Amino acid sequence: MGKIIVGNWKMNPESLNKAKVIFNSIVKYIKGVKGVEVVICPPYPFLCIGDKLKIKNINIGAQGVSEELKGSYTGEVSIKMLSSLGLKYVILGHSENRAKGETNISINKKVLLTLKAKITPIICIGEKDRDDNGFYLAYVKHQLLESLSSVPRSQIKNIIIAYEPIWAIGGDSLREATKDEFVEIQIFIKKIISDLYDIKIASITRVIYGGSVNPLNAKEFLDNGASGLLIGRSSLSPKKFGDIIKLTK
Ligand code: PGA
Repeated sequence: MGKIIVGNWKMNPESLNKAKVIFNSIVKYIKGVKGVEVVICPPYPFLCIGDKLKIKNINIGAQGVSEELKGSYTGEVSIKMLSSLGLKYVILGHSENRAKGETNISINKKVLLTLKAKITPIICIGEKDRDDNGFYLAYVKHQLLESLSSVPRSQIKNIIIAYEPIWAIGGDSLREATKDEFVEIQIFIKKIISDLYDIKIASITRVIYGGSVNPLNAKEFLDNGASGLLIGRSSLSPKKFGDIIKLTK
């Protein structure tokens, strides 16, 4: 399976016109690039930006979904709605949503609904801080186990795990993870999957990295076991995002 590069636009940009300009510039900039799956996750109102383009290898994804299937839930968006748009990916468990109350239990409900709708969940996990005693490992394990509860073996290949340490995300982050930090956690995640299912399933499970990715550090992760990247700020710059896609093989 080829690598996957996911852009998480968060609550940006501020208008549909601006979203279209960024999207079209990305499409133009990466024209002709093959073998990389590109996913752009704009805010809900802009999910239509790629409608007429239908370009192979460029997908639109959502930044979240309701844990409820249908009903009176003001402000919520259901999996059926996303499915009716033909979306193939949804980001779940982003630390910014966990900070607002999203729990592993609700993420797990969303994972199960999403898989049932044949949409790929990109499950974000990651610790707030690293400590010398390895408590962060137990924290990540707990997130992973609860999020994957009741997910059948046959579905693991349809899941993407995004390791996003909170200390590496966003504007005031101190630094990105080092390649060694990523390699360690990647092995750790695969070991948990192997214990839960088996080594074959662990070997095909996609683990991607997110947190202050830019064109200068992207290759480090891609060359050291990452199945792809989840990119915030740099995904809003067609040049930076496009350069990362171009260096992905
Ligand atoms: P960042 O965000 O690339 O701006 O650090 C990553 C994310 O939050 O998904």
